[in-house]
Amino acid sequence: MKKILLIGNGAREHVIAETLKKSKHEVELFVVGKSKNPGIFGLAKEYLLADVSDKNAIRDFALKVRPDFAILGPEAPIAAGIADLLLELGVPSASPLQTVGRLESSKSFTRDLLEEYKILGNPKFKVFYNEEGLAEFFAELGEDFVVKADGLKGGKGVKVSGDHLNGIEEGLAYAKECLAEGGRVIVEEKLIGQEFSLMSFCDGIHTAEMVPVQDHKRAYEGDKGPNTGGMGSYSCPDHMMPFLKPSDLEEAREITKKVAKALFDSTGVYFKGIMYGGFIAVKSGVRLIEYNARFGDPEVMNVLPIMKTDFVDICEAIIDGTLDKLTIESEKKATVCKYLVPNGYPDKPVAGQRIVVGEIPAGVQAYYASVDQKEDGLYLSGSRAIAFVGIADTLDAAEKLAESAVGKVTGPVFYRKDIGTKALIDKRVEMMKMIRG
Ligand code: AMP
Ligand code: GLY
Repeated sequence: MKKILLIGNGAREHVIAETLKKSKHEVELFVVGKSKNPGIFGLAKEYLLADVSDKNAIRDFALKVRPDFAILGPEAPIAAGIADLLLELGVPSASPLQTVGRLESSKSFTRDLLEEYKILGNPKFKVFYNEEGLAEFFAELGEDFVVKADGLKGGKGVKVSGDHLNGIEEGLAYAKECLAEGGRVIVEEKLIGQEFSLMSFCDGIHTAEMVPVQDHKRAYEGDKGPNTGGMGSYSCPDHMMPFLKPSDLEEAREITKKVAKALFDSTGVYFKGIMYGGFIAVKSGVRLIEYNARFGDPEVMNVLPIMKTDFVDICEAIIDGTLDKLTIESEKKATVCKYLVPNGYPDKPVAGQRIVVGEIPAGVQAYYASVDQKEDGLYLSGSRAIAFVGIADTLDAAEKLAESAVGKVTGPVFYRKDIGTKALIDKRVEMMKMIRG
């Protein structure tokens, strides 16, 4: 019997819980989350209603349960040092300690790490602690720049020229605002290309990558509208991305491998957990946008349901440093995830309204995020609500499956019909061809 503590209560943790329960090992799940996730609830032996970073509540729960190990789903508890707290109690985690969790929680830490260890992948960038040289660097970059507030902001601190910032004046003003607020700002070259997510398991020494995925950040069809946590994602049966060359994936894999080593060399602490690289394929290869220190949401829902390797074995290998003894294998299936979100999401999402989910067809998985299960049904609670994942032999079939489930939901909700469609994917392939000539 394996007792596993799972921190978090979103769709990401729903699929993590489901995958742990599918293990060949007998698993008892102990979950900590702020609200009762209807999908996770039925899988948990005990469910503690508490904030995912509440140190006192988590300490007491861990002392009572005495889990074999823990998994921290979201970024907040990693940045708050919950893995450190658990380790002090003798509970290891398949998630990183706070020091190496800076890979996500500090964008400047990661940019500086690549620079110091001469790992190729950074765009032209500078970290500023005051206004000295700021105007000159904007002048050097010209019209194509990105300004990033440091720290965990859920992507909201990032502003891109042409998208959120009109011209150098506005860029400078926002950079000064970040400096005044956080004492630190990153200004970097704007990269042009196609983004993809490559997540890797890491035991501190060895890395093993998962199937690559493409997320869709913009709220509306045709990649329009505000940035969101991710409206949906797809992966392909050949475990490639249609717009990538094999050498692009190889480059991304190498960057992650080198960063894992650099993390240990610079901190003396092994990174144990998920290194989720947000990469972008550009004219000449691959660049790093950022790392996250956890599974991507929605990307995890493309990856875990088709993974053949036992997930409990993987977590234990991460903790023991024996990831090199495992081969991570996945089914040669296509996956398409479409997130159902409340009207008004992400800026002014409605909440408190009831939604009705139709019958879920075979080949589709539903993962619950921001929804409350009440006696008379499911209610929206203000963020991405339910993710529907179609799994099939081809992208076309997987897309139709996801569509057939998400399209049946009634209530004040919307989703992106175009995710996983041939029309949208062809556009991306075309864009890459244009860039690379
Ligand atoms: P991040 O929080 O660093 O992932 O940034 C959020 C989003 O901003 C990314 O998914 C990209 O779409 C965009 N972005 C960040 N950095 C750059 C960059 N250097 N060039 C172009 N786009 C970027
Ligand atoms: N897919 C975006 C994220 O998990 O941060």
